[in-house]
Amino acid sequence: MNIVVSVTGGIAAYKTVHLVRLLTKAGHDVTVVPTEDALRFVGLPTWEAISRHPVTTSVHDDVARVRHVALGQNADLVVVAPATANSIAKMAAGLADDLFGTTLLATEAPVLIAPAMHAEMWRHPATQANIATLRARGVHIVGPADGELAGGDSGLGRMSEPEEIFDAAVALLAPRDLDGLTVAISAGGTREPIDPVRYLGNRSSGRQGAALAAEAAARGAEVVLVAANISADVLSAAQHPSIRVVPVGSAAELSAAMKDAAAEADVLVMAAAVADYRPVAVSDRKLTKEGGGIPPIELVENEDIVAALVAARRPGQLVVGFAAETPEDEEELFARARRKQQRKGVDVLVVNEVGWDRGFESADNAVHILGRDGAAAGSASGSKRAVSAAVWDAIAGAR
Ligand code: CTP
Repeated sequence: MNIVVSVTGGIAAYKTVHLVRLLTKAGHDVTVVPTEDALRFVGLPTWEAISRHPVTTSVHDDVARVRHVALGQNADLVVVAPATANSIAKMAAGLADDLFGTTLLATEAPVLIAPAMHAEMWRHPATQANIATLRARGVHIVGPADGELAGGDSGLGRMSEPEEIFDAAVALLAPRDLDGLTVAISAGGTREPIDPVRYLGNRSSGRQGAALAAEAAARGAEVVLVAANISADVLSAAQHPSIRVVPVGSAAELSAAMKDAAAEADVLVMAAAVADYRPVAVSDRKLTKEGGGIPPIELVENEDIVAALVAARRPGQLVVGFAAETPEDEEELFARARRKQQRKGVDVLVVNEVGWDRGFESADNAVHILGRDGAAAGSASGSKRAVSAAVWDAIAGAR
């Protein structure tokens, strides 16, 4: 996609370098349009190197190709980061005295701004009125965040982090191909209680599931996110008016919540790491050393939830499973995955190679996707959000 990133004159411009990098890494063609003031914070060579495109601030360069309007006309998205109080005022007034102004007036693409300024300037009625004007025109706004500001101040006015702006940008570019669908996604890792203070658990953070929920909502779906022990921090990535979070603890609770959601859902995604076994008996009191000897913990098998969802599915309902594998090589990975897909009967299987240092708890992931009958339906690596996009592409393809 063609993305214009407009940088206006604030210290947060240094964070926009990372935003441009995230966008180019995700395969987008990024043109940076800084204002003259912005170049006092981060210089032109940096923007050219990071975007791999020539950068100018002048409406008088590249006149043959009418650059002052062409950039805006050809953009699929325009991001303004940081958006200073002054540039927000210029946008609200429709001023076009530089390349930033002409680009924004010439574009019909979605516009996302990431305000950055001192808290007093953000609170000022003039800024608030300008923001209201932009909102009414359909401009999307990410942030500002509460936190440390330049000069040692703190308050509301800090530019959102590049990752957050990236996610908001990607959401605006998402196709609306899941409009009208309801999806239920389980995520996180179950905890099987041993006694009031201990449990059997696993290392799943729920990041991949939260990203799947965010991507589905961005594409138009109504989402139920069954969240097994996911931290508030991770869940914040799945904040969206179309996402309802149902918190659960154990495999039994997760099973009940998914079966409930299955009554309405068109697509069921089991991304959670479910414990295969649970202690037969849960002690009402904490197990202590005073009991003498090492206490044996007898286990009993948990229900295979995804298999149960497959067995009970309605016609047209699609079930997606995940497989976490630690294979010797790729051949074994695919062989194990195809056996698992057959055993569970899922329409789509997302295969995840995991290890001590990959898959779990990290921001990135790498997966292979099997479609109907074990056919390869794509591979993806990168941020969990980027992987989510590929998973939903495969699901949309299997419907
Ligand atoms: N799953 C489930 N219920 C369980 C265990 C797993 O629904 N009791 C689901 C997971 O959510 C995932 C898929 O089954 O979608 C595969 O999980 P995985 O742990 O890879 O497979 P297992 O069935 O545990 O097989 P194995 O331990 O032999 O790899």
